Amino acid sequence: MAVSIDLKSWDVAVVGEIYADHVFSGFARWPGPGEEVLAKDYLRELGGGSVNTACGLSRLGRRTRLVGLIGETDFDWFERRLGDFGVGMDGIRLGVDGTGTTVSVSTREDRSFFTYLGANAGLSELLEVPTVIADLVAARHVHFAMPLARELAARILPQLRQAGCTTSLDVGHSADWLRDPTNHATCREIDFFLPNAKEASLLVGDDNADAYAAWSGAQGLRHTVLKLGARGALVADAAGTRTIHAPVVEALDTTGAGDAFDAGLIDAVLDGETLDRCVQRACVTGALCTTAAGALHALPHPPTLRTLRERTYGS
Ligand SMILES: Nc1ncnc2c1ncn2[C@@H]1O[C@H](COP(=O)(O)OP(=O)(O)OP(=O)(O)O)[C@@H](O)[C@H]1O
Ligand SMILES: [Mg+2]
Repeated sequence: MAVSIDLKSWDVAVVGEIYADHVFSGFARWPGPGEEVLAKDYLRELGGGSVNTACGLSRLGRRTRLVGLIGETDFDWFERRLGDFGVGMDGIRLGVDGTGTTVSVSTREDRSFFTYLGANAGLSELLEVPTVIADLVAARHVHFAMPLARELAARILPQLRQAGCTTSLDVGHSADWLRDPTNHATCREIDFFLPNAKEASLLVGDDNADAYAAWSGAQGLRHTVLKLGARGALVADAAGTRTIHAPVVEALDTTGAGDAFDAGLIDAVLDGETLDRCVQRACVTGALCTTAAGALHALPHPPTLRTLRERTYGS
């Protein structure tokens, strides 16, 4: 009997921007200049797509290393909170500018964000450090949750490929990155490029999901996967274009659903699943994430994920 020995120390390295989120909600109205309004609720939580996806993967039982920068004064808080999800601090570096910070302000109608990049400004430089590259190479899969600069991608992706790592990229709503055609080469070189519908329309210049599938095919992307919110996700390959529907859940807060989707997809990729089954697992993880406030609270454990997956798609 053939026994495969996994020589890598980590299943996944997740690299990207890390934030301290301050979430103010329940304002009756937006204040006028010089006015003060009171929030009904306030929450301080770890944030950033990299944190959300790393916590999602660790919850699913994957040995996950989070690689990024925070400010020294937040070390204990991050260590405690990441520890709740089983994510350690050994991939974290300390930046001089303090932790990146986002203030989110919600009224009943709308939500606005104020962001300070902080230590995240050093992320591209961090990815030039040989020991950091060694951290990535030590994982079976590397996920980038950041607008990965073209020069950086051109340098790092071949190294990861040569080391046998599979890769994925979620640039988030980085309009400049998405509008810049020099990044199309990165979309081709990454194993799984993971945009949502709005991001795909910035990339392709058309907000039709089929237009993205056509673009992806013409560009020769390795996989075509497009997140479509409550509708699920679109996939396309030689067998055609199809929608994988999302499970019906009572969605309370969709923050981080896309990052949870990424975690579910990577988890299935590591199991060697087919594209459709990878995206099914992704959709279930994304859907479950929406069932509680915040991006982290409802990240599923494997039995919850498995149960809803089987109920939705059969075995
Ligand atoms: N209301 C919902 N009901 C069921 N599933 C949902 C819902 N919203 C999101 N999902 C699931 O989560 C996945 C990702 O959601 P979405 O398309 O909103 O990503 P996103 O816009 O990148 O999210 P994020 O806010 O994290 O960036 C969807 O493909 C779907 O599977
Ligand atoms: Mg997203």
